Amino acid sequence: MTKSPVHIAQISDLHIKTPGRLAYRRVDTALALSRCIAELNRFEPKLDLVVISGDLADTPSSAEYEHLTDLLGELRTPFVAIPGNHDSRELMRIALPGHPYAGPSGPLNRHVQLAELDLILLDSSVPGHPHGELDPQSLDWLDAILSTGAGRPALLFLHHPPFAAGIWHMDRQNLRNADDLAAIVARHPRVQLIGCGHVHRAALTRFAGIPCTICPAPNHAVDLDLAMLRPPSFRIEPPAFHLHAWFPGPGFGTVVTHQIPIGDFEGPHPFFNEDGTLID
Ligand SMILES: [Fe+2]
Repeated sequence: MTKSPVHIAQISDLHIKTPGRLAYRRVDTALALSRCIAELNRFEPKLDLVVISGDLADTPSSAEYEHLTDLLGELRTPFVAIPGNHDSRELMRIALPGHPYAGPSGPLNRHVQLAELDLILLDSSVPGHPHGELDPQSLDWLDAILSTGAGRPALLFLHHPPFAAGIWHMDRQNLRNADDLAAIVARHPRVQLIGCGHVHRAALTRFAGIPCTICPAPNHAVDLDLAMLRPPSFRIEPPAFHLHAWFPGPGFGTVVTHQIPIGDFEGPHPFFNEDGTLID
């Protein structure tokens, strides 16, 4: 059977509040999500899946998740979601009843088989704390999933980056036991990408030998303060999401991550005249 490319959009850190409330009294996160969903809906080719990598709600409350699911009702692609530090596992289970997480209680881990790919979503939230950690149960589960289906490329997603991005107040809240994750990833060469959120801005590094990305947010961005100049702050920057495109090929194929700005932009305009010459 011919293998086809797979197109996975990753959106992150939605921070949906109750209707009419602004995040930090400034950011209309519901409007930002609606604009993001419009962008996802008009994307071509049609997306195969949307991954929401945590911080779906803000405080969190049932009313926020109700607002979130109302907004997500407009999305024309199936989605999967893992919690961030602003989420509640219990409220997420109630809000997303059709989502089969790995266990009936505890972390909201999930394994999704999408054509040739394995998507493994890890719950790095620590109830009551802003930092991330993968508990022993999640690490064992990850190792077990990766030990089956050898030969299938696997993409991992979790909210908390397992590396420091250089922004002091966010680095205190990253994944505490990154070494445990690295040890597992290193044992399984089929892992092709680790996609994270939490920092509200795009970043890329290599972790345990493979690409590890942070997805930008559809709303506000954490201030890129690499010199400890300011108290924890945010900025309104161009909103964006990530598209992870997998292309079949030798070995595990190729994953290419594109950053896609959300909004109406001019174009596309042609490079060439009708006679094939470059427009000058
Ligand atoms: Fe977060």
